[in-house]
Amino acid sequence: MPINNQSEKFENFALFARSMDEQDSLGNFREKFYIPQQSKGEDVIYFTGNSLGLQPKTAREYIEQELKDWETLGVEGHFKAKTPWMPYHEFLTEQMAKIVGAKPSETVVMNSLTVNLHLLMVSFYRPTQTRHKIVIEAGAFPSDQYAVSSQIKFHGLDIENSLIELTPRDGENCLRTEDIEQTIYENGDSIALILLGGVNYYTGQKFDFQRITKIGHQVGAFVGFDLAHAAGNIELHLHDWNADFAAWCSYKYLNAGPGGIAGVFVHERHAENFDLPRFAGWWGHDKETRFLMDSKFVPMRGAEGWQLSNPPIFQLAALKASLDIFEEAGMKTLAEKSRKLTGYLEFLLGEIRDERISIITPSDENERGCQLSIRVRNADKNLFKQITMRGVIADWREPDVIRVAPVPLYNSFADVFRFAEILKDCLQDE
Ligand SMILES: Cc1ncc(COP(=O)(O)O)c(C=O)c1O
Repeated sequence: MPINNQSEKFENFALFARSMDEQDSLGNFREKFYIPQQSKGEDVIYFTGNSLGLQPKTAREYIEQELKDWETLGVEGHFKAKTPWMPYHEFLTEQMAKIVGAKPSETVVMNSLTVNLHLLMVSFYRPTQTRHKIVIEAGAFPSDQYAVSSQIKFHGLDIENSLIELTPRDGENCLRTEDIEQTIYENGDSIALILLGGVNYYTGQKFDFQRITKIGHQVGAFVGFDLAHAAGNIELHLHDWNADFAAWCSYKYLNAGPGGIAGVFVHERHAENFDLPRFAGWWGHDKETRFLMDSKFVPMRGAEGWQLSNPPIFQLAALKASLDIFEEAGMKTLAEKSRKLTGYLEFLLGEIRDERISIITPSDENERGCQLSIRVRNADKNLFKQITMRGVIADWREPDVIRVAPVPLYNSFADVFRFAEILKDCLQDE
C-alpha cells in the first residue's frame, strides 16, 4: 500500500510547534471553545474530541435564546421564536449536509445514533431466506454489535449464520480493503447489508467508503456507515460515494454536548421509495398536512421522512452553535490542518523510540482521521494514569490502547508537542 503522507518536515522542538501554530489559519478557533483547566489554571491537553467535543462558547447564548423564547412566547415559540421551533431542524440541514458531503434532502438531524441505526436497518436490512447476512467489522463499537445482532434476532434468524465479522489478518491490527472485498465477493448472494464504522473507534482506521460501497452494490447488498468517528473528523462525500445510508452522533467531533442530537443520511435514490418499510411518526409525515391529523401516514420525501418525533430544541440549539463554527472554518481547511497535526503527533511519537508503545492506526494519512491509537505493551494502564495526572485528557480503551485525537478546531501544535514530552517523561519514570 503506497503511503502518501504530506512531505511535511517536522522538527522536535517547542519553537517549531510554536511556529506551526503561528502559521495556522485556524489558530484563533481555539478561542471559540472552553478548554478545561488544570488545578493551576493551565489548559489541559484535551485529546478526547473523539469522545466528547468541547463546548463552543456560543452554545450558552444559543440555548439561552430558546429559554428566553419559551419564557416569553410559550407555545407560540413554535412560530414566533427567533428561530421558530417548528422548522428549527431545517436550519441545521444544509450545514450538516456539507459536513458529510450530502444533498440537503439526504440529511436530517434527529434522535441519537443507535436509535437511528435501528430505524435505518428497519428499512435497509430486509433479510430473505437466501440473502440474510450482515457484514460488520470485528471489534465494531459494542452498540453497533448489539444493534445488528438484535436486528438479526428480530427477524427470527440466528447470529451464527447471519453475521459476518471482518477480522484483520493474523498479526495485523487493521483490515485490508482487499480482504473486505474478498469476503464480500465470497458471500455475495447471501449478504443483505454491509454496515461499517466509517472510522473504527478503536484503531482509528478509515475505510475505503467508495470501493466498499461499489462492491457491496455489485453483489446486491445495501451499504451503510456508522460515522460516529468520521463526521466532523474527515472529509466525506456520502452522496458521490453512493452509500445507501449513514448515521452519526454529534457529541464527538461535532461538539453538540453530551447526548447531543444525531444525524442521518439516506441517499436520494431512496428519497421517494415509499415502499421501503419504515417505522413512522408524525414528524416524518408530509409537513404540509401534518396538522390535519389524518390517520394515514404520508412520508416526507428524503431523509426527513424517517423522522419520528418533534426534535429537542435545546439540543438543536447547541448543535447549531457548533455547526456555525464549522461553517466558518470549512471542512476542507479543517482536514488539511488535521493531517498536519496528526502527522506531527505521529512524528513525535516515532521520536520517542520506546518499544513499550506502538501506533496501531494506519500510517497512511488517507486511511485515518485525526485519532492515533497507541498500543501499550502488557496493557500497562499505569502509563495512562501517569499522563492523566500530568494534565492530558485522553482515553483508555480496553484491552490495551490509549486513544489520542488532536482535533483541528481547538488543538494546537503546542498541545501535540507538550503531549509527546509528557508521554516521554512518563515512560522514563516507569
Ligand atoms: C462507533 C459508535 N457507534 C455507536 C455509538 C453509540 O452511540 P449512542 O450512545 O449515541 O447511540 C458510539 C458511541 O460512542 C460509537 O462510537
